[in-house]
Amino acid sequence: MAFAQLRDTIEELDRERGTAGNHAFYLSIPPRFFPDVIAQLKEHGLAEERIGSWRRVVVEKPFGHDLKSAQELNAIVSEVFPPEAVFRIDHYLGKETVQNILALRFANQLFEPIWNANYVDHVQITMAEDIGIGGRAGYYDGIGAARDVIQNHLLQLMALVAMEEPTSFDAYSLRIEKQKILRSVELPSRLDLHTARGQYVAGWAGGEKVKGFLQEEDIPKDSRTETYAAIKLGIDTRRWAGVPFYLRHGKRLGRRVTEVAVVFKKAPHLPFTETATEELGQNALVIRVQPDEGVTVRFGSKVPGTAMEIRDVNMDFAYGGAFVESSPEAYERLILDVLLGDPPLFPQHEEVELSWQILDPIIAYWGNHGEPEPYPAGTWGPKSACDMLARDGRVWRRP
Ligand code: BG6
Repeated sequence: MAFAQLRDTIEELDRERGTAGNHAFYLSIPPRFFPDVIAQLKEHGLAEERIGSWRRVVVEKPFGHDLKSAQELNAIVSEVFPPEAVFRIDHYLGKETVQNILALRFANQLFEPIWNANYVDHVQITMAEDIGIGGRAGYYDGIGAARDVIQNHLLQLMALVAMEEPTSFDAYSLRIEKQKILRSVELPSRLDLHTARGQYVAGWAGGEKVKGFLQEEDIPKDSRTETYAAIKLGIDTRRWAGVPFYLRHGKRLGRRVTEVAVVFKKAPHLPFTETATEELGQNALVIRVQPDEGVTVRFGSKVPGTAMEIRDVNMDFAYGGAFVESSPEAYERLILDVLLGDPPLFPQHEEVELSWQILDPIIAYWGNHGEPEPYPAGTWGPKSACDMLARDGRVWRRP
């Protein structure tokens, strides 16, 4: 009934607004409705392209909750829509600062020569939010931080930072390079030591007292869903051998910030006294995805004065200061690309499945090993996440 009505409406629009049979269906629905919705689109002749016009389907996250369910979902969609008509939305790829990662790396001569294991010590990818789960209990409980954000946004960021130069910027060439990275990911052998997860308890956000996850509306009092997740990954390629990638995401953290920090090794030799370099850290290049979009380069500089004292300073590029053009909203850009049929910013099912392959063993391990560690709202996550880096002799950046 509803779909017959949808068809009538669409046909009316074709007649009145000149849409000429070009239709994109935007599916932002719980995964369990997919079989019905896709079958109904087909049954009512809504999925078939007519000559000279197109039919597309946009699929919103979650793309399943593990590898198996993602494969099932894909089988359902691909029975009705050919691969080139399916647009999976990962809205991070629509962000201007994320697209700029490829410009920064491949339009410049400055960075690429040092973008490898010879110079890079490790990479930290952080997506922190100050909000809690709000009214999304139904979606979030049982999903958690790793599935909600690491499986898609953070692994995509990692792929863009780590991938080789594509032969062109068409969808095929980009996807191949990203897939190579995802396929080369190596999990730590001790998941107890090199992953961490937490759940927020009551604390502070924006100067106000806020409740803990278990007190949020519609969250079961014994929920073990994590609202914070941190993992360490290796990438088994010549470029990245031995360079850890640390990924973390959490809700109700200190503030909202997403950044990629490429942290460089220390200079092999420091021709200064020890006291001169006491306050010198490691050089870093930080891609500030949001807010305060831009790039920071951090390096040591002599403090003015008669003594030789070296301290870290920042060199900043800020979008606000460099451009007058404002960045389009991520969804604005992506929806336009769907209508134009331009696929480079949309992951294909191979990428989705490879990402689940990375995450599945970690989530299974967590499922069998106790509960997430509590952390007060407004802090930077559970202690185990700091311990995880400390074990490697490193610390999380305070973004
Ligand atoms: C979504 C997640 O994909 O990204 C949400 O499902 C999260 O949990 C949101 O809040 C954050 O997006 P942004 O663009 O504000 O970083």
